[in-house]
Amino acid sequence: MGRKKIALIGAGNIGGTLALLAAQKELGDVVLFDVVEGVPQGKALDLSQVGPIAGFDAKITGTNDYKDIAGADVIIVTAGVARKPGMSRDDLLGINLKVMKAVGEGIKANAPDAFVICITNPLDAMVWALREFSGLPHNKVVGMAGVLDSARFSHFIADEFDVSVKDVNTFVLGGHGDTMVPVVRYSTVNGIPVPDLVKMGLSSQDKIDAIVKRTRGGGGEIVALLGTGSAFYAPAASGIAMAEAYLGDQKRILPCAAFVDGQYGLDGLYVGVPVLIGAGGVEKIVEIELDDADKAGLQVSVDAVKELLDACKGLDPSLG
Ligand code: LMR
Repeated sequence: MGRKKIALIGAGNIGGTLALLAAQKELGDVVLFDVVEGVPQGKALDLSQVGPIAGFDAKITGTNDYKDIAGADVIIVTAGVARKPGMSRDDLLGINLKVMKAVGEGIKANAPDAFVICITNPLDAMVWALREFSGLPHNKVVGMAGVLDSARFSHFIADEFDVSVKDVNTFVLGGHGDTMVPVVRYSTVNGIPVPDLVKMGLSSQDKIDAIVKRTRGGGGEIVALLGTGSAFYAPAASGIAMAEAYLGDQKRILPCAAFVDGQYGLDGLYVGVPVLIGAGGVEKIVEIELDDADKAGLQVSVDAVKELLDACKGLDPSLG
């Protein structure tokens, strides 16, 4: 079996970080694509020169030609524009939809067997559009959202209880917008549910509520701090975790924006749910039991995603 091939569409901050992580982990050879001439080639050359220092062996090339992604095992899409302070992710819909069309067509023509992970915002709508434009099977196109949102939730919980983040397990349902649903009941510190820790007096309901709110606004908090763009280290790490799950047939259960087709009473859209990722792509949507509050929260989030899909269809009639 030859070396794996990882194609990264978009050579911005996330694309560059993805390339570094993929090379450091020796996931395979990396092709960094961008429409801007020189940038992917320059970043690829710089990153290739990390290899002799860091001791990794990965061939990293930059390109402006979709033909070079041919045969990719995994494609991670970050192409498009990031938001700036004062913008919501949804403000990017018009511009990034056009980018997804070009990317989807490039994938369809050159790498129809790849497992595709979308990171471009507004995430749930862009992964749906990318799937439509590429024509790939739904289980081979997935959005990175819940892994990132849960990582933020876990970090805040670890800080609150002053414990190692390794012992914290949290998860977030729904769309990757401010209506996402951090599920406190299913969040644990070494198996102990967070609500039980609150009952033990180790935190308060108010503090947990504040953490839920901060998780929902986690992307915006970083956008406001950076001033020029959005988060990139944790989004890249999230995409890599999903790629590893696929490449290594790890059968990991990760919260991702996946295509739901009847599960959770939802049909025909991408939204954040726990899924099992292995060599078959999204092998299963895991249906957890939700209480009434979580169900209501998920519905609000799903309604927001549906509005975005209607907007996509309005902007590009081929999506109708
Ligand atoms: C994030 O959550 O960091 C990304 O979706 C970028 C953003 O605009 O918030």
